[in-house]
This record gives sequence, C-alpha cells and structure tokens, in this order.
Amino acid sequence: MAVILELKDVTKAYDAYKVVDGFNFRVEEGELRCLLGPNGAGKTTTIDLITGRQKATSGTIIFNGRDITGKREDKIAKQGVGRKFQVPAVFRDLTVRENLQVAFSNNTDPFANMIRFGRRDGRERLNQVVEIVGLQERLGEQGGNLSHGETQWLEIGMVLTQNPKLLLMDEPTAGMTEQETQKTSEIFNRLKGEQTLVVVEHDMAFVREIADVITLMHLGKTLAEGPMEEVENDPKVREVYLGSEGITDAA
Ligand SMILES: Nc1ncnc2c1ncn2[C@@H]1O[C@H](COP(=O)(O)OP(=O)(O)OP(=O)(O)O)[C@@H](O)[C@H]1O
Ligand SMILES: [Mg+2]
Repeated sequence: MAVILELKDVTKAYDAYKVVDGFNFRVEEGELRCLLGPNGAGKTTTIDLITGRQKATSGTIIFNGRDITGKREDKIAKQGVGRKFQVPAVFRDLTVRENLQVAFSNNTDPFANMIRFGRRDGRERLNQVVEIVGLQERLGEQGGNLSHGETQWLEIGMVLTQNPKLLLMDEPTAGMTEQETQKTSEIFNRLKGEQTLVVVEHDMAFVREIADVITLMHLGKTLAEGPMEEVENDPKVREVYLGSEGITDAA
C-alpha cells in the first residue's frame, strides 16, 4: 500500500513550548487511523498543521507525493485533504439534498447547482453519499430540523461529496447518543478501505469498533502505535493514564 500522508519531524512551538514536538506520522492509502491521547496532547494542532490552518515551526508534511508544508489551507484542500470540523456548518434553511448539492459544487448559487445536478455523474455521487451516511429518508428536511447525529452525518456527507483523498475528523461522535455513535461506527466501517481517514476520538467504545491501527499521542509525540490491544497494554501508555483504568477511562 502506498503512503498517502507523511509527517516528518514536525514541530509546532509557541515560544519555548512545543505543542507538537518532532512528530512522525505515516498513513497508508485506504487506512482508517485513530489518533488518541490525553487532553492537550497536540491532536487538534496536528490536524490543523496537515490542513494548513496552522503552520509548522519546522519539519515536513508530504501528502500524495507532494510537499504541502506551509501551503495555504485552500490549496491543500484542493489537493484532496478534506476536514470535518467539530462545529456543524450545514445551512439551516436549505434541505439535506440542497446542502449536499452546495457542498458538491462548492457553489452557493442554486441555479448553477440545478444545472450541475442534471448531469449523471453528480447525481450518482450524491446518491452514493446519501446512502453511505444513511439520510435517504431525510433528503427533503431542512438542515435546521435535523437531530445532532443527523447534522453530523450530513456534514460527513458534505465532505464526502468532494471526494477527498484524505479525510480528517476531530471528535466526530462528540455529543452523540450511544445509538448515534453506533450508527456512526457503521458509516466509518462502510468507508473503510475506500476512503483514507484520520479520526481523533476520545470515545473508546467507538475506537474499538472502527480502528485498525491507533497512534497514541502524548506531549506532542507518539507514545505508542499499533493495534488497540497492543497500545492499551503498553506500560508507557498505562503510566500516562495512571490513576485511571487505562485509556478506556480517558475522556
Ligand atoms: N495559540 C496557542 N498558544 C499557546 N498554546 C496553544 C495554542 N493553541 C493550543 N495551544 C496548546 O497546545 C496544546 C495542544 O492543544 P491541542 O488542541 O492540539 O490538543 P488536543 O490533543 O487536541 O486536546 P483535546 O483532546 O483537549 O482536544 C494545549 O496544551 C493547548 O493549550
Ligand atoms: Mg482537540
């Protein structure tokens, strides 16, 4: 399998404080990687560095064979890095279908979208995405009327319409009910193998459902990496989560 993302010795420093500290990270095409770690470990900052929202102090970020270190956020997005934010960005007054259409075309002019969606390729991708995120029954509903879980699924769908080569998600199950979390794990398992994903999560039950390989970050560095069982039994990891039952307890 080809490596699609590689961070080499990446550091993000605020004065003398290194939030991300010589971090090395490799993700293969089609992989679903979970990025874990205690609060303040540097997970969100790492996502920000990959997407260009923040600039690395030093180090190199290679995406899809290209050096994207220090590139602008919109340029990196155009190269195929998609991101789902924690705060929902759906249009409340547009229907689920219209939200997906807008995301697909990146064009807020509804007339332009109508023309685009007359085309077969667009319609097919839209149907495919709707099916993956399970919103078939909700296409005519306004964004503002969706439940928290549905809003998150719509957002995942909106990013997917853009066919990102790599999709980054920061705590996708935050605020979800157990049932919604379960459905979200089904969506992720469905995407596995087709979509390269990096998922930051605190919900261990969810991580257990979806993860292949997990990377555990601590103080801006990799503390442990490997399959779930291996990482949670690592003495170094147990030490970081001392006083709790292990990473299962950390939230
Ligand atoms: N602009 C900034 N200036 C100084 N320190 C910052 C800045 N932004 C973030 N930090 C610090 O960087 C550290 C890492 O933050 P980050 O948000 O990446 O952690 P995280 O792993 O995502 O944590 P959480 O699990 O709580 O979301 C934190 O200690 C935070 O206080
Ligand atoms: Mg965070």
